[in-house]
Amino acid sequence: MAASLGAIHAATAAKATTELRSNEDKSRILNAHHETRSLIIAANLEPPVASHVMTGPATRIAVLISGEGSNLQALIDAAQAERLGADIVAVVSNRSAARGLERARAAGIAALHLAAVRGQERSEYDAALAALLAPLDPQLLVLAGFMRILGPRFIKQFAGRMLNIHPSLLPKYPGLDTHRRVLEAQDEWHGATVHFVTEELDAGPAILQYRLRVRPGDTPESLARRVHVGEHIILPHAASWFAAGRLRLVEGSVMLDGRALLAPVSIDEEGDST
Ligand code: GAR
Repeated sequence: MAASLGAIHAATAAKATTELRSNEDKSRILNAHHETRSLIIAANLEPPVASHVMTGPATRIAVLISGEGSNLQALIDAAQAERLGADIVAVVSNRSAARGLERARAAGIAALHLAAVRGQERSEYDAALAALLAPLDPQLLVLAGFMRILGPRFIKQFAGRMLNIHPSLLPKYPGLDTHRRVLEAQDEWHGATVHFVTEELDAGPAILQYRLRVRPGDTPESLARRVHVGEHIILPHAASWFAAGRLRLVEGSVMLDGRALLAPVSIDEEGDST
């Protein structure tokens, strides 16, 4: 169904339709700020044309977490509401106390803990992770607050099949402590990014961003809360695009519905359209 989009900053805005459908989405504004033809296409979130689908749809998703798992919960909710178009076949955490493991169990999803062993090389952990995942045969890995760095071999194995969510408007602020850094830099805008994972930390090609305007009085905590709201929208969305065969990484470029994105699709927090 077509939802109210508010402002779409693109020449063909009037024609834009979208599959964004819940109440949450209705109140959002989809902004294609970067006036490229690619983004105009991206804003037209229509079902894929068959010829654009380069491989079969992904149906098996494994999610890697380290902590709270609120983004995992958003994926679970989307799957249960049949908005994901995929099954979450397992959740793996490097921390046994991760609340996300409980969330997985509560949803009837295999909840696996893979601890790092003291003195272990990164590549050994990665190999153990790959071995754990192999029988599950996931077509997509989603890093949803997975706070370990993965090595080049693992990343190569899942090249083009691994998404990460990061709490900043990449390429700004890869790494930790993004909310504090945004405040220190007195940035006007902050947000979150879903991107394909490449060997460079938090720097793979960006797919979808949620943007919010920093308000006077914002703290790292208030920004974390606001960013989380957006993360819970964009992560299931990007995963659903991948599962539907609409989203691919081809020679380093993000392809959505067969067209290269020259900049990420961007959704603004309600009231923050420019
Ligand atoms: C999220 O804010 C996610 O963007 C961040 O960890 C948080 C996990 O929250 N990921 C990174 O910083 C990766 N560089 P959650 O456990 O509630 O989903």
